[in-house]
Amino acid sequence: MNTELIQIRDNQRNSWNSFSGGWNKWDDFTMRFLKEQGQCIIDELSLKPTDKVLDIASGTGEPGLTIAATIRNGGSVIATDLSEQMLEIAEVKASAMALDNFSVEVADACELPFEDNTFDAISCRLGFMFFPDMQLAAREMMRVLKPGGVLVTTVWAEPEKNAWITTIMGALKKHLDLPAPEPQKPGLFRCAAGGFLTSLFSELGFSGATEKTIAGIMNCDSADEYWNFMNDVVPPVVSALKNTSQQIQNQIKQDVINVFEDKAAKAMAQTPYAARLFTVRKPNQ
Ligand SMILES: C[S@@+](CC[C@H](N)C(=O)[O-])C[C@H]1O[C@@H](n2cnc3c(N)ncnc32)[C@H](O)[C@@H]1O
Repeated sequence: MNTELIQIRDNQRNSWNSFSGGWNKWDDFTMRFLKEQGQCIIDELSLKPTDKVLDIASGTGEPGLTIAATIRNGGSVIATDLSEQMLEIAEVKASAMALDNFSVEVADACELPFEDNTFDAISCRLGFMFFPDMQLAAREMMRVLKPGGVLVTTVWAEPEKNAWITTIMGALKKHLDLPAPEPQKPGLFRCAAGGFLTSLFSELGFSGATEKTIAGIMNCDSADEYWNFMNDVVPPVVSALKNTSQQIQNQIKQDVINVFEDKAAKAMAQTPYAARLFTVRKPNQ
């Protein structure tokens, strides 16, 4: 990787390490929010009881932990992530679940420290859009998959279908001059376009991928809960607010509260989300 990509990776590692405390604090809420995406990944993997599974960008452990619990009589999971502090939380959760078939390893998805043809299945929930070089990561994933093995990932779908984040981003944009996202840099909607991942993998020679859209609700009890969650867990929100005066922050928060209190915008206030569920198989040789 060139120096620019290495810089992107190092920034990602530092950022996710610094957000690990927020992810730990909001673990129940976040895992409830993302549970269905994890379950869709697991269903799509069609695991066998003895499978060796790699969970990439595992963060605080999901969906790797749930997979390990599902195949605990013979199968195993290695959870990898760039952030050692996110993985430390995953290890604590694995101990609490008494899982002895789950281990963690710090690794960049673009440089996986595994032999070719090692894993029966790969899961990756909401990681792809943060990789410095997504094509390199895709190549690495397919390299470490066994022939016939399957990779399933989710990424956020278009912003219009993700009020869970556009509610606050809309308020931020009203008050702040935010730079437009750069497609070559990590971002929540970097893989959102329909067919994006299909093209990326077909350029590497892997055809026959499928994409489905899955949708759900975040379920926030109040504007305060939403605001606090966003400020503890979601990096682009925190970086936008970092150098903003308290007065402007208060105005932005008030705008968010107004959305939640506006009965006509109730559907939006319930903060729906949509994600793409992407599946690709490595051909049998
Ligand atoms: C949104 S979190 C998802 C965590 C977990 N899969 C989940 O769904 O709860 C994104 C994760 O991607 C990880 N990540 C970012 N860049 C990465 C890279 N190049 N290689 C591996 N993991 C990376 C971050 O450290 C972070 O833990």
